[in-house]
Amino acid sequence: MQIVNTVSELREVIRTWRLAGENVAFVPTMGNLHAGHLQLVNEAKKTADRVIVSIFVNPAQFGIGEDFEVYPRTEREDREILDAANTDLLFLPAVGEIYAPDAKTVVTVTELSDLYCGASRPGHFSGVATVVCKLFNIVQPDAALFGLKDFQQLVVIRTMVRDLNIPVEIIGVDTVRESNGLAMSSRNGYLTGAEKSVAPKLYQSLCVARDAVLAGGQSYADIEQQAILFLQKEGFQPDYFCVCRSNDLIKATVEDADLVLLAAAKLGKTRLIDNIYFSR
Ligand code: PAJ
Repeated sequence: MQIVNTVSELREVIRTWRLAGENVAFVPTMGNLHAGHLQLVNEAKKTADRVIVSIFVNPAQFGIGEDFEVYPRTEREDREILDAANTDLLFLPAVGEIYAPDAKTVVTVTELSDLYCGASRPGHFSGVATVVCKLFNIVQPDAALFGLKDFQQLVVIRTMVRDLNIPVEIIGVDTVRESNGLAMSSRNGYLTGAEKSVAPKLYQSLCVARDAVLAGGQSYADIEQQAILFLQKEGFQPDYFCVCRSNDLIKATVEDADLVLLAAAKLGKTRLIDNIYFSR
Protein backbone atom coordinates (compact mmCIF):
# COMPACT_ATOMS: atom_id res chain seq x y z
CA MET A 1 0.00 0.00 0.00
CA GLN A 2 1.32 3.42 -0.93
CA ILE A 3 1.01 6.17 1.67
CA VAL A 4 1.03 9.79 0.60
CA ASN A 5 0.67 12.98 2.59
CA THR A 6 0.37 15.64 -0.09
CA VAL A 7 -2.15 16.51 -2.78
CA SER A 8 0.53 16.74 -5.46
CA GLU A 9 1.93 13.24 -4.73
CA LEU A 10 -1.59 11.84 -4.67
CA ARG A 11 -2.46 13.40 -8.03
CA GLU A 12 0.71 12.00 -9.57
CA VAL A 13 -0.14 8.43 -8.52
CA ILE A 14 -3.73 8.76 -9.71
CA ARG A 15 -2.53 10.18 -13.03
CA THR A 16 -0.52 7.02 -13.72
CA TRP A 17 -3.53 4.84 -12.87
CA ARG A 18 -5.77 6.87 -15.14
CA LEU A 19 -3.25 6.58 -17.97
CA ALA A 20 -3.44 2.79 -17.57
CA GLY A 21 -7.24 3.04 -17.93
CA GLU A 22 -7.97 2.15 -14.30
CA ASN A 23 -10.91 3.53 -12.35
CA VAL A 24 -10.86 4.64 -8.74
CA ALA A 25 -13.11 4.18 -5.69
CA PHE A 26 -12.64 6.37 -2.63
CA VAL A 27 -13.41 5.81 1.07
CA PRO A 28 -13.01 8.93 3.23
CA THR A 29 -12.56 8.25 6.97
CA MET A 30 -11.32 9.85 10.18
CA GLY A 31 -9.35 6.71 11.11
CA ASN A 32 -9.51 4.49 14.20
CA LEU A 33 -10.71 1.90 11.75
CA HIS A 34 -13.10 -0.91 12.63
CA ALA A 35 -15.09 -3.56 10.76
CA GLY A 36 -17.58 -0.90 9.56
CA HIS A 37 -14.84 1.01 7.74
CA LEU A 38 -13.43 -2.24 6.42
CA GLN A 39 -16.78 -3.11 4.88
CA LEU A 40 -16.59 0.12 2.87
CA VAL A 41 -13.09 -0.80 1.65
CA ASN A 42 -14.24 -4.30 0.67
CA GLU A 43 -17.23 -2.92 -1.23
CA ALA A 44 -14.95 -0.36 -2.89
CA LYS A 45 -12.72 -3.15 -4.15
CA LYS A 46 -15.72 -4.73 -5.88
CA THR A 47 -16.51 -1.53 -7.78
CA ALA A 48 -13.13 -0.26 -9.00
CA ASP A 49 -9.60 -1.24 -10.05
CA ARG A 50 -8.03 1.00 -7.42
CA VAL A 51 -9.10 1.88 -3.87
CA ILE A 52 -8.02 5.02 -2.05
CA VAL A 53 -8.74 5.52 1.66
CA SER A 54 -8.19 8.86 3.37
CA ILE A 55 -7.67 9.34 7.08
CA PHE A 56 -8.18 12.93 8.14
CA VAL A 57 -9.63 14.01 11.48
CA ASN A 58 -11.38 17.05 10.08
CA PRO A 59 -11.31 19.94 12.57
CA ALA A 60 -14.07 21.80 10.68
CA GLN A 61 -16.74 19.25 11.60
CA PHE A 62 -16.11 19.35 15.36
CA GLY A 63 -17.83 22.00 17.45
CA ILE A 64 -16.33 23.91 20.36
CA GLY A 65 -16.15 21.56 23.36
CA GLU A 66 -16.52 18.45 21.17
CA ASP A 67 -13.97 15.63 21.02
CA PHE A 68 -11.55 16.83 18.28
CA GLU A 69 -8.50 16.77 20.61
CA VAL A 70 -9.28 13.38 22.11
CA TYR A 71 -10.68 11.73 18.97
CA PRO A 72 -8.83 8.37 18.78
CA ARG A 73 -5.81 8.51 16.46
CA THR A 74 -4.45 5.02 15.79
CA GLU A 75 -2.37 5.49 12.65
CA ARG A 76 -0.14 2.44 12.98
CA GLU A 77 -3.02 -0.01 13.54
CA ASP A 78 -5.05 1.68 10.78
CA ARG A 79 -2.18 1.25 8.33
CA GLU A 80 -1.93 -2.45 9.14
CA ILE A 81 -5.69 -2.94 8.70
CA LEU A 82 -5.73 -1.16 5.34
CA ASP A 83 -2.65 -2.96 4.11
CA ALA A 84 -4.22 -6.33 4.99
CA ALA A 85 -7.38 -5.27 3.11
CA ASN A 86 -5.32 -4.61 -0.05
CA THR A 87 -5.97 -0.89 -0.14
CA ASP A 88 -3.95 0.64 -2.98
CA LEU A 89 -3.30 4.02 -1.45
CA LEU A 90 -3.72 5.72 1.90
CA PHE A 91 -4.00 9.51 1.84
CA LEU A 92 -2.90 10.95 5.18
CA PRO A 93 -2.82 14.74 4.88
CA ALA A 94 -1.92 17.17 7.65
CA VAL A 95 -4.49 19.88 8.45
CA GLY A 96 -2.38 22.48 6.61
CA GLU A 97 -2.47 20.38 3.42
CA ILE A 98 -6.27 20.53 3.36
CA TYR A 99 -7.06 24.01 4.71
CA ALA A 100 -5.32 27.23 3.77
CA PRO A 101 -5.03 29.36 6.93
CA ASP A 102 -7.16 32.06 5.25
CA ALA A 103 -9.67 29.71 3.59
CA LYS A 104 -12.94 31.52 2.87
CA THR A 105 -15.12 28.95 1.12
CA VAL A 106 -17.60 26.68 2.87
CA VAL A 107 -20.09 24.23 1.36
CA THR A 108 -23.45 24.18 3.14
CA VAL A 109 -26.37 21.95 2.20
CA THR A 110 -29.13 24.17 3.53
CA GLU A 111 -32.09 22.94 5.62
CA LEU A 112 -30.89 19.31 5.79
CA SER A 113 -27.85 20.45 7.76
CA ASP A 114 -30.01 22.05 10.46
CA LEU A 115 -32.09 18.95 11.25
CA TYR A 116 -31.45 16.17 13.79
CA CYS A 117 -27.69 15.94 14.41
CA GLY A 118 -27.28 19.35 12.79
CA ALA A 119 -29.61 20.92 15.39
CA SER A 120 -27.44 19.78 18.28
CA ARG A 121 -24.13 20.13 16.39
CA PRO A 122 -24.31 23.55 14.63
CA GLY A 123 -21.84 23.77 11.74
CA HIS A 124 -21.11 20.05 11.78
CA PHE A 125 -22.59 19.21 8.38
CA SER A 126 -21.01 22.25 6.72
CA GLY A 127 -17.69 20.93 8.01
CA VAL A 128 -18.48 17.50 6.56
CA ALA A 129 -19.78 18.81 3.21
CA THR A 130 -16.80 21.14 2.80
CA VAL A 131 -14.17 18.49 3.48
CA VAL A 132 -15.90 15.85 1.37
CA CYS A 133 -16.26 18.30 -1.51
CA LYS A 134 -12.56 19.18 -1.20
CA LEU A 135 -11.54 15.51 -1.01
CA PHE A 136 -13.64 14.77 -4.10
CA ASN A 137 -11.84 17.57 -5.97
CA ILE A 138 -8.48 16.29 -4.78
CA VAL A 139 -9.06 12.58 -5.55
CA GLN A 140 -11.59 12.90 -8.41
CA PRO A 141 -12.80 9.34 -7.88
CA ASP A 142 -15.37 7.53 -10.02
CA ALA A 143 -17.21 6.35 -6.91
CA ALA A 144 -17.14 7.09 -3.18
CA LEU A 145 -18.49 4.89 -0.42
CA PHE A 146 -20.26 6.01 2.75
CA GLY A 147 -21.90 4.08 5.59
CA LEU A 148 -25.65 4.06 6.15
CA LYS A 149 -24.67 4.24 9.83
CA ASP A 150 -24.35 8.02 9.38
CA PHE A 151 -27.59 8.28 7.44
CA GLN A 152 -28.00 12.05 7.63
CA GLN A 153 -24.41 12.50 6.49
CA LEU A 154 -25.10 10.25 3.49
CA VAL A 155 -28.21 12.26 2.55
CA VAL A 156 -26.27 15.54 2.94
CA ILE A 157 -23.52 14.23 0.63
CA ARG A 158 -25.94 12.83 -1.96
CA THR A 159 -27.72 16.20 -2.02
CA MET A 160 -24.45 18.14 -2.35
CA VAL A 161 -23.33 15.90 -5.24
CA ARG A 162 -26.67 16.38 -7.01
CA ASP A 163 -26.83 20.14 -6.43
CA LEU A 164 -23.21 20.84 -7.43
CA ASN A 165 -23.09 18.33 -10.34
CA ILE A 166 -20.13 16.55 -8.81
CA PRO A 167 -19.32 13.61 -11.11
CA VAL A 168 -18.92 10.99 -8.37
CA GLU A 169 -21.21 7.99 -7.83
CA ILE A 170 -22.19 7.77 -4.16
CA ILE A 171 -22.56 4.22 -2.83
CA GLY A 172 -24.20 3.61 0.56
CA VAL A 173 -23.05 0.58 2.57
CA ASP A 174 -25.08 -1.20 5.27
CA THR A 175 -24.26 -0.65 8.94
CA VAL A 176 -21.90 -3.20 10.49
CA ARG A 177 -22.94 -4.15 14.03
CA GLU A 178 -21.53 -5.97 17.03
CA SER A 179 -23.24 -9.32 17.69
CA ASN A 180 -25.39 -7.54 20.33
CA GLY A 181 -26.70 -5.11 17.69
CA LEU A 182 -24.62 -2.06 18.66
CA ALA A 183 -23.55 -0.18 15.52
CA MET A 184 -19.77 -0.11 15.31
CA SER A 185 -18.33 3.35 15.85
CA SER A 186 -15.00 4.87 16.76
CA ARG A 187 -16.81 6.63 19.61
CA ASN A 188 -17.88 3.30 21.23
CA GLY A 189 -14.40 3.29 22.76
CA TYR A 190 -15.53 6.13 25.05
CA LEU A 191 -18.17 3.87 26.71
CA THR A 192 -17.50 2.51 30.19
CA GLY A 193 -17.94 -1.22 30.88
CA ALA A 194 -21.42 -0.68 32.34
CA GLU A 195 -22.47 1.60 29.47
CA LYS A 196 -21.36 -1.01 26.92
CA SER A 197 -24.07 -3.38 28.12
CA VAL A 198 -26.75 -0.66 27.89
CA ALA A 199 -25.68 0.79 24.51
CA PRO A 200 -27.27 -1.99 22.33
CA LYS A 201 -30.68 -0.88 23.63
CA LEU A 202 -30.55 2.03 21.20
CA TYR A 203 -30.74 -0.42 18.30
CA GLN A 204 -33.37 -2.43 20.19
CA SER A 205 -35.53 0.70 20.47
CA LEU A 206 -35.22 1.22 16.71
CA CYS A 207 -36.24 -2.39 15.98
CA VAL A 208 -39.29 -2.09 18.24
CA ALA A 209 -40.28 1.20 16.57
CA ARG A 210 -39.80 -0.26 13.08
CA ASP A 211 -42.03 -3.22 13.98
CA ALA A 212 -44.66 -0.81 15.33
CA VAL A 213 -44.57 1.23 12.10
CA LEU A 214 -44.93 -1.96 10.03
CA ALA A 215 -47.76 -3.25 12.23
CA GLY A 216 -49.70 0.02 11.77
CA GLY A 217 -52.41 1.20 14.15
CA GLN A 218 -50.26 3.69 16.11
CA SER A 219 -49.38 7.25 15.17
CA TYR A 220 -45.72 7.93 14.38
CA ALA A 221 -45.71 10.55 17.14
CA ASP A 222 -46.77 7.88 19.68
CA ILE A 223 -44.14 5.44 18.43
CA GLU A 224 -41.45 8.12 18.74
CA GLN A 225 -42.65 9.10 22.22
CA GLN A 226 -42.59 5.49 23.45
CA ALA A 227 -39.05 5.05 22.15
CA ILE A 228 -37.90 8.23 23.93
CA LEU A 229 -39.47 7.05 27.21
CA PHE A 230 -37.87 3.61 26.85
CA LEU A 231 -34.43 5.15 26.24
CA GLN A 232 -34.79 7.49 29.23
CA LYS A 233 -35.80 4.55 31.44
CA GLU A 234 -32.68 2.67 30.30
CA GLY A 235 -30.42 5.59 31.27
CA PHE A 236 -29.95 7.40 27.95
CA GLN A 237 -30.50 11.10 27.39
CA PRO A 238 -32.28 10.98 24.03
CA ASP A 239 -31.60 13.81 21.59
CA TYR A 240 -34.09 12.83 18.87
CA PHE A 241 -36.03 9.81 17.66
CA CYS A 242 -37.86 10.35 14.42
CA VAL A 243 -39.73 8.47 11.68
CA CYS A 244 -38.59 10.17 8.46
CA ARG A 245 -38.73 9.87 4.69
CA SER A 246 -35.45 8.30 3.64
CA ASN A 247 -34.78 10.53 0.62
CA ASP A 248 -35.00 13.98 2.25
CA LEU A 249 -35.43 13.24 6.00
CA ILE A 250 -38.70 15.16 6.25
CA LYS A 251 -40.96 13.73 8.98
CA ALA A 252 -42.90 10.84 7.45
CA THR A 253 -46.66 10.57 7.12
CA VAL A 254 -48.60 7.32 6.66
CA GLU A 255 -48.53 7.95 2.90
CA ASP A 256 -44.73 7.55 2.74
CA ALA A 257 -43.28 4.14 1.86
CA ASP A 258 -39.48 4.56 2.03
CA LEU A 259 -38.62 5.31 5.62
CA VAL A 260 -35.73 5.72 7.98
CA LEU A 261 -35.92 5.80 11.76
CA LEU A 262 -33.24 8.16 13.02
CA ALA A 263 -32.09 8.21 16.62
CA ALA A 264 -29.41 9.93 18.70
CA ALA A 265 -28.92 9.65 22.44
CA LYS A 266 -26.23 10.33 24.97
CA LEU A 267 -25.11 7.56 27.26
CA GLY A 268 -22.98 9.15 29.95
CA LYS A 269 -20.55 11.34 28.01
CA THR A 270 -20.85 9.43 24.74
CA ARG A 271 -23.22 10.51 21.97
CA LEU A 272 -24.51 7.50 20.01
CA ILE A 273 -26.40 7.62 16.72
CA ASP A 274 -28.12 4.83 14.86
CA ASN A 275 -30.93 4.27 12.36
CA ILE A 276 -32.98 1.68 10.53
CA TYR A 277 -33.81 2.07 6.89
CA PHE A 278 -36.83 0.15 5.55
CA SER A 279 -39.88 0.21 3.29
CA ARG A 280 -43.48 -0.40 4.21
P1 PAJ B 1 -15.81 8.20 10.08
O1 PAJ B 1 -16.67 8.35 11.28
O2 PAJ B 1 -14.41 7.71 10.25
O3 PAJ B 1 -16.56 7.22 9.10
C1 PAJ B 1 -16.04 6.95 7.82
C2 PAJ B 1 -17.08 6.18 7.03
O4 PAJ B 1 -17.33 4.93 7.69
C3 PAJ B 1 -18.43 6.91 6.97
O5 PAJ B 1 -18.98 6.79 5.66
C4 PAJ B 1 -19.27 6.16 7.99
O6 PAJ B 1 -20.66 6.21 7.73
C5 PAJ B 1 -18.73 4.76 7.82
N1 PAJ B 1 -19.02 3.93 9.01
C6 PAJ B 1 -18.75 4.22 10.30
N2 PAJ B 1 -19.23 3.24 11.12
C7 PAJ B 1 -19.80 2.32 10.31
C8 PAJ B 1 -20.49 1.08 10.54
N3 PAJ B 1 -20.66 0.60 11.75
N4 PAJ B 1 -20.96 0.40 9.46
C9 PAJ B 1 -20.79 0.89 8.20
N5 PAJ B 1 -20.15 2.05 7.92
C10 PAJ B 1 -19.68 2.76 8.95
O7 PAJ B 1 -17.92 9.82 8.73
C11 PAJ B 1 -16.79 10.30 8.83
O8 PAJ B 1 -15.71 9.59 9.28
C12 PAJ B 1 -16.48 11.73 8.42
O9 PAJ B 1 -17.60 12.53 8.65
C13 PAJ B 1 -16.02 11.88 6.94
C14 PAJ B 1 -17.11 11.40 5.96
C15 PAJ B 1 -14.73 11.07 6.71
C16 PAJ B 1 -15.72 13.35 6.64
O10 PAJ B 1 -14.75 13.85 7.49
